[in-house]
Amino acid sequence: MELKRGLVDYINSELFGRLEGACNIQHLVAASLVDYFQKTSGVTGSIGEIGVRDGKLIFGMSFFLESFERCAAIDLFESQHLNVDMSGFKPESHGNPFELHHKSFLPSERWSIVDGDSLGLTLLDKFNLLNECDSFRMFSIDGGHDPEHVINDMNFVNDLMCSGGVLMIDDYYNIGFPGVHEGLLTYLKSLPKWKPFMYSHNKLFLCTHTYHPIYSVLLEKYVVGNSEYLVQDWYTRKKVRLGGNSFRNVEWSRSGIGMLMTASK
Ligand SMILES: C[S@@+](CC[C@H](N)C(=O)[O-])C[C@H]1O[C@@H](n2cnc3c(N)ncnc32)[C@H](O)[C@@H]1O
Repeated sequence: MELKRGLVDYINSELFGRLEGACNIQHLVAASLVDYFQKTSGVTGSIGEIGVRDGKLIFGMSFFLESFERCAAIDLFESQHLNVDMSGFKPESHGNPFELHHKSFLPSERWSIVDGDSLGLTLLDKFNLLNECDSFRMFSIDGGHDPEHVINDMNFVNDLMCSGGVLMIDDYYNIGFPGVHEGLLTYLKSLPKWKPFMYSHNKLFLCTHTYHPIYSVLLEKYVVGNSEYLVQDWYTRKKVRLGGNSFRNVEWSRSGIGMLMTASK
């Protein structure tokens, strides 16, 4: 697997350094791996996120899209008085970098943007998104971090996903946001169709029970014992140094979750 050339340029850009958010290079490498698996398995669909903030992650994921696929972005954006758990809170002076930059990644007709509280999303919003984007193959959930948000956002996104789609849940093990853990486990008790297959840098990746063996085998095939390949630089074919870190190891927990790790050299 190679990182897309446009994605490498984005990671190296001054804009990437300037955008604020919860996205780092490792997230984009892990998401690239999922994209690679999906392309080799014939899984197609749009890509979306609840909780985009400046757009740092979703801009990177937009490089995965084929011309017939679209991007959806849902956030409170400038209505930060509704950001009750203060996750990714930004003062008014921060402005709206997402609004400023999203069209330089994809033309506006390929964006579906919902500006509002995810707890206020309706069935009509769901239909509109499906109508505009068809189903989704990747969705990042990183909006409100209370259990109520996570349960609500999982419920909303669940109906949008295609067969073989992957969910990414941010801050699953962040002790600052225990609501994410609580919310996800509560949700999975009622709808156990989603199963984690990878944990990478604070993000938990889930696929459906049916696809779990497929993603697990692919992950094992391309990652375990092959970490140098993972970080091969698109241009130089040399190992990419990820901010002083490089992928060193991949561990497997007994529950079948692959863990991508970095360590300082
Ligand atoms: C941690 S930041 C997201 C960072 C982003 N995913 C990235 O990779 O840079 C959390 C975002 O969730 C948004 N948010 C918080 N509560 C929300 C809600 N109830 N509905 C929609 N968005 C929400 C905030 O406005 C903020 O932009």
